[in-house]
Amino acid sequence: MKTEIIKIEKNDSGALTLGDIEAIERAGRMIKEGGLVAFPTETVYGLGGNALDPESSKKIYAAKGRPSDNPLIVHISEWEDIYKIAKNVPGEAKLLADTFWPGPLTMILKKSEIVPKETTGGLDTVAVRYPSDIVAKKLIESAGGFVAAPSANISGKPSPTEAKYVCEDMDGRICAIIDGGEGEIGLESTIVDLTVSPPQILRPGFITAEMLGSVLGQEIKVDKAILNPDSNLKPRAPGMKYRHYAPSGELVIVEGDDEKVIEKISKLLKEDKEKGIKTGVMVCEEHKEKYDADVIKITGKRGDQKEAAHRLYSILRSFDDEDVRSIYSESFSDKGFGAAIMNRLLKAAGHKVISCK
Ligand code: TXA
Ligand code: MG
Repeated sequence: MKTEIIKIEKNDSGALTLGDIEAIERAGRMIKEGGLVAFPTETVYGLGGNALDPESSKKIYAAKGRPSDNPLIVHISEWEDIYKIAKNVPGEAKLLADTFWPGPLTMILKKSEIVPKETTGGLDTVAVRYPSDIVAKKLIESAGGFVAAPSANISGKPSPTEAKYVCEDMDGRICAIIDGGEGEIGLESTIVDLTVSPPQILRPGFITAEMLGSVLGQEIKVDKAILNPDSNLKPRAPGMKYRHYAPSGELVIVEGDDEKVIEKISKLLKEDKEKGIKTGVMVCEEHKEKYDADVIKITGKRGDQKEAAHRLYSILRSFDDEDVRSIYSESFSDKGFGAAIMNRLLKAAGHKVISCK
């Protein structure tokens, strides 16, 4: 299959041009006719198909090489559409929608009859998200209002934050890729399960536990199974159990006081070099001169969580492009948005962490 690349131009004020609108409407028709189209969102690129058509969902699993027990998120472009695909919608959903939608928050609810089990990985719940990106919104509208979209990467790879990464993974497998530039946030949406009381976070993201808690007036916790890799608990978001986001080189996180971390990473780099292994580091701007590695990637200024999240996946992919075999990353605070960064980084590292005391 030849994959068409649709480039979004936008005008100077950031609005869609008439040409953009026509092109997105055409892409929407591809989805209506059962095809798959990758598109930008404010988090990462999604791989979209008609969420109400079981055959489209099967095609999504095939294109990604994704296990079919791992449910898809249904994207909508008007918040009231939540009532068409979900039932027994609690009042909390409206409160959260009023505050955070459109935006990087996914809610888990009981599914209605119109959502096929192929889309929900056999579950009787459905994940619903209303993204804020204007290209995503227009595409969802044009495609009929309900677009199932996992991240547009091959299963196991980091989610794509730019169209070129979607191309690397999906060229020849899908009808079209809409290139709308870089995703602003860079990490996938926060997932909150509203079928349990109190609601629970199944995947941390830009919308933090504190932000959800202040709107709902109660403490919101993160699913224990994703915080504790050694436990036998099963994550409640099926996708969180899979190895994910990992570069093909070995990634290790080194945590502790700055000086000790720099000393430890330097020692490990030296040992690797002596063995002839190509090395890489992922470090903050302030420390970039401290390391003698073959590839040095900067996560941003120290403590700048937004920048680190924005860069994380493209950094992980670039280590593969440069065929780095041994990678060391400085650690991040896990407070606020940092919980999402550390969740993805720990998964990418297969939870390999060295603590310097
Ligand atoms: O930001 C995002 O959410 C991106 C963009 C494209 O919107 N999408 C995304 O989708 O990250 P995906 O498929 O890569 O991740 C969806 C996660 C998986 O871990 C899946 O197991 C979980 O959501 N999930 C989906 N439906 C669920 C359900 N009914 N119950 C529990 N977890 C669910
Ligand atoms: Mg994904």
